[in-house]
Amino acid sequence: MGKFVDLATKILEQCKALEENTSSEHLAQWDEFPDVQLTGPAIMAKLAAQSTLLELQVAMKTPTETVTTLGMRTVTPMVFQALYRFGIAEKVPTEHDASYEDVAKACRLPEQDLRRIVRYLMTWNVFTEPQPNRVAHNGSSRAFRENKLLQQTIGMCTEEIWPSAVHGSSIANSTELDFFQEISKYPTRAKRFADGMTFMGGMPGLGMEPLVGAYNWDALGEATVVDVGGSHGELAKRLLLKYPKLSFVIQDLSSTIDGGHQQSRLSFMEHNFFDKQPVQADAYMFRWIFHDWPDKACTKILQNLIPALKQGARILIMDFCVPEPSQAPRMAEELERTFDLTMWCLNNAKERSKEEWSILIKQADTRFKLENIIMIPGSLLSILDIKWDG
Ligand SMILES: C[S@@+](CC[C@H](N)C(=O)[O-])C[C@H]1O[C@@H](n2cnc3c(N)ncnc32)[C@H](O)[C@@H]1O
Repeated sequence: MGKFVDLATKILEQCKALEENTSSEHLAQWDEFPDVQLTGPAIMAKLAAQSTLLELQVAMKTPTETVTTLGMRTVTPMVFQALYRFGIAEKVPTEHDASYEDVAKACRLPEQDLRRIVRYLMTWNVFTEPQPNRVAHNGSSRAFRENKLLQQTIGMCTEEIWPSAVHGSSIANSTELDFFQEISKYPTRAKRFADGMTFMGGMPGLGMEPLVGAYNWDALGEATVVDVGGSHGELAKRLLLKYPKLSFVIQDLSSTIDGGHQQSRLSFMEHNFFDKQPVQADAYMFRWIFHDWPDKACTKILQNLIPALKQGARILIMDFCVPEPSQAPRMAEELERTFDLTMWCLNNAKERSKEEWSILIKQADTRFKLENIIMIPGSLLSILDIKWDG
């Protein structure tokens, strides 16, 4: 057997595992329901099947095709930006199809342009054309229409990340400020970014739920945890439900904190992590913070904790540990490397490997003891469990 049949056989087995671990009801809903809730084994089987499928797609291309298919694909962000910017999904009725002419008028776009955009999206399974020149929703376009957080996420990607990828963040924004300070000047941009974080917190592999169960939070006892750069406090809200002895203080820039909602055992405070930490707590958690910053800034963020740290305080960093090439399922590696480059575009930042984490933490202060790196089943994020031994 050649390598194509080998890979195809592997995919067949992985698809069987996916179907065996998914109810027939969920399989039937797959195209229509925005996000079928899968069991752990089904999630793993789906990731495995998609990764092998990606390998097969890549393997089947000739070397020239490999370069051209990726290198020539330049329009996808533009088309998704148009979908977001012109509210196209909202202008297509949910109950029946509509003419391109009517939808174009509602979007204030020339009909020809609207048609070209929608027909491109259809090649990615967003919208359908049930009869010539009439557009209708399908599962994907309906998911986009109905899920405001998804819309905000696509807005964040196409209005913030894409221009920064093309020009660099400083030039795209004509600013000398870092990306976060820059968007904090504009409440709608800060809110869009925070909504994007909330949405991504529910995505498979990036979700918050696995982080709730992966750490021995009970061992902290009656404890105050500061969530540094905690946005609207989504992770803390989940932890509160499960651990009644924990209280949380969410710290972020004022523009983001303004969108958070106070509740029992959960408070919000404005704090810039480039200033000294004002709260003495039992633990400090940082989810998806350090990947936003270059090494020098990360060192400063860690050192700013020191005046508040008591002996034995924990610092929990939740971020990717980027694998060595080909050591993780291809889909996972591709996602982590996409994030790595995205962070580079946005803020000259990066994702880090285990070794890079270890060096960074030691460089900040040798009293930060990296005791454990917890790899979490069902999550691409790890928890770096650091003890302050000061
Ligand atoms: C990638 S988001 C992660 C948010 C949240 N921890 C989560 O996991 O969803 C980065 C967060 O850092 C916040 N941030 C950026 N610069 C900051 C600063 N100098 N001080 C405090 N927070 C900051 C942003 O406002 C944003 O909420």
